[in-house]
Amino acid sequence: MKRIIQLTINDKEYEVAVEPNQTLTDMLRYELGLTGTKKGCEVGDCGSCTVIMDGIPVNSCLVLAMQANGRKITTIEGLETEKGMHPIQKAFVEKGAIQCGFCTPGMILSSKSLLDKNPNPTEEEIRAGISGNLCRCTGYQKIVDAVKSVGK
Ligand code: FES
Ligand code: FES
Repeated sequence: MKRIIQLTINDKEYEVAVEPNQTLTDMLRYELGLTGTKKGCEVGDCGSCTVIMDGIPVNSCLVLAMQANGRKITTIEGLETEKGMHPIQKAFVEKGAIQCGFCTPGMILSSKSLLDKNPNPTEEEIRAGISGNLCRCTGYQKIVDAVKSVGK
């Protein structure tokens, strides 16, 4: 039986009817159409489903939608403003840190979370910050360079 939850996503209040076993990924994608959150492994290995929940990056495939009740969520759709792309998004484009793009939303949200806490991270800190996000295309260096350029 569905239950109603209330939460804030990208600074907007939502009331959503969810199944008890529905994941946060599925709720975002299928109930709200926020398809920027990607579904990869669905077992917590790849990080493609990363969103920021109350300031912390989480694998949304491992979070039940009901656990997001009362929480504040940021998805990739929340980063762009009327001024345009977020500086991290711009840096990923400018540094060539995107190839197929499947990892990119999660990678950018993990990077944002890192930079919010540590605005000028070292390469080692960047690599640790994105260690939960797998990329099959870029070899990671351009991603690290992009995050480093925003830090500067
Ligand atoms: S889809 Fe969630 S970690 Fe891979
Ligand atoms: S750009 Fe393809 S998986 Fe990262």
